[in-house]
Amino acid sequence: MPGKNKNAPVVAVLNMKGGVGKTTIAGNLFRELFRDKKVHTLLIDLDAQFNLTQLLMTRKQYDSLLDNKKTIFSVFQHEIPDSVFAISEEYHLELPLIDDLVENLEKHTRNEEDVKLDLLPGDFELATLNLKARSELRIPKKRFKRFVENAKQQYQLVVIDCNPSTSFLTSCALEVASHLLIPVKPDKYSRLGVEMVLDYAKAYLGKGLVPDIKILLNDMRRDNTNDNKIARELRGHRELGSKVLVNELKHSELLIAKPDHTGFATDQKVPYKEVVKNNLVEIANEYYLSLVL
Ligand SMILES: Nc1ncnc2c1ncn2[C@@H]1O[C@H](COP(=O)(O)OP(=O)(O)OP(=O)(O)O)[C@@H](O)[C@H]1O
Ligand SMILES: [Mg+2]
Repeated sequence: MPGKNKNAPVVAVLNMKGGVGKTTIAGNLFRELFRDKKVHTLLIDLDAQFNLTQLLMTRKQYDSLLDNKKTIFSVFQHEIPDSVFAISEEYHLELPLIDDLVENLEKHTRNEEDVKLDLLPGDFELATLNLKARSELRIPKKRFKRFVENAKQQYQLVVIDCNPSTSFLTSCALEVASHLLIPVKPDKYSRLGVEMVLDYAKAYLGKGLVPDIKILLNDMRRDNTNDNKIARELRGHRELGSKVLVNELKHSELLIAKPDHTGFATDQKVPYKEVVKNNLVEIANEYYLSLVL
């Protein structure tokens, strides 16, 4: 893992299939990695559904961010100034400061320095980007790539929660990612989603340029009754088998998103939270090793 001011790894949490646990993992797994390893981390909510932001912030907090344009939409699009003369390409590429956009979620001290877990909040307006013509998306993509380049200097780890399916936003994530983390639930369609990610990444980036891939089995039963066929088949797969993490994320009531809880799953006051935390920490430890460059 590079230190500050070097090129941080960028992990895109991606699967073309919806509901496989991308948001749950982008939030809860990387929070444990942050807490355990004290790695300065930026979480980016790159999904127009902005579920990661909804998981971690109240409606009231979020409304105030929207009013102040402190969301990811400000990365993609500049406010158009009144004077048309000011609209040059350089003007369009001017970015807000990272520190002016991100929200701090948690802070620790390491060697007398602050180590932060920050969130770049999502925005429903991202959906409008998918409606634009390709020519209109050149500058938004350039802005996003520039923003992530800057974030790689400032943080030690950047994590992107992606939308399901393929879209302009998926292509943005693929172009900046050094690593892909693919959650898969033990069902046929979520499993097919893994191959779709691989095929899409190969087709879009070129075969030699596909980021480092790891697959995380999610929502597995503790008694191992549901994992047999799909998990075994995935682990035995010629191309994918070696990419599947040894540790699996187990099914837990604590990880089910609840309307009355805002925040990380293991911050809920229930006695069995240590079990879930330990499960997340063992995965975080294993995944951390694959990030050490
Ligand atoms: N290990 C788990 N145990 C229990 N519930 C889980 C687990 N992982 C995910 N879930 C639940 O499954 C649902 C889908 O998870 P999540 O929103 O993280 O998926 P997603 O891949 O981000 O979905 P989308 O494609 O819509 O963005 C949520 O209700 C979440 O709380
Ligand atoms: Mg999601």
